[in-house]
Amino acid sequence: MKEQRIKLGVNIDHIATLRQARRDIDPDPIAAAQVARQSGADLIVCHLRRDRRHIQDEDLIKLCRLKGETHVELSDDKQIVDVVLRAKPASVCLVPERPGEVSTEGGLDVVRNFKSLSKTAARLKKAGLELSVFIAPEAPNVRAARNLGADVVEFDTSDYVAESTKPGQRAQIERLELATYMAWEMGLAVHAGHGLDYHNVAPIARVPHMSALNIGYSIVARSVFVGLKSAVSEMRRLID
Ligand code: PXP
Repeated sequence: MKEQRIKLGVNIDHIATLRQARRDIDPDPIAAAQVARQSGADLIVCHLRRDRRHIQDEDLIKLCRLKGETHVELSDDKQIVDVVLRAKPASVCLVPERPGEVSTEGGLDVVRNFKSLSKTAARLKKAGLELSVFIAPEAPNVRAARNLGADVVEFDTSDYVAESTKPGQRAQIERLELATYMAWEMGLAVHAGHGLDYHNVAPIARVPHMSALNIGYSIVARSVFVGLKSAVSEMRRLID
């Protein structure tokens, strides 16, 4: 059976980072979401952070009203969950969040934080949202994500991205392949992301049973030179 085409989730946080540099109205992340969608993005992804350094509550509400799937990354924080539930995205991903971090650092330790995460997971599921958890590609986390009631696991690709040698990259791809197969066997959909760019994305797109890749920084960075439309469609071509 032919595998489904991989979905591309375009994370637009850093469009809002640029706007927040001047606390102005441009560049508008809502307009960026529309361009990204027209250029091949299947999902629009954003992260509502506690410090609101990029996406604001009003952005989230507007993004969730757009046609098509908006996928929201959020931490296990009651106030953030309240805002996200009011905005009603199609799907969410629970991620760790450390104050002062430059970007998400590694996946959630679902085993250790199971009790707190299961309360939040239950609230999100009760509201009818598709639930993903961002984890390292390791068996204990996959099992714990399934026990949490997650529909999707998003594997952190940072370890793969950090490898500079071919054997090191190969080992990380095998690690992702194994975890993806395990998750797929358990009935979970598999996404991956973090640090993916135009040079390193292709092998991840070929992992069997991978269903979506979430990519932000490299696309927004490239869009400065070639425009968002070209930056998204070039990425789309690389993963197809
Ligand atoms: N997936 C998750 C869970 C993330 O937190 C991020 C960063 O916001 C990404 C994917 C995208 O990472 P990058 O911006 O490095 O492409």
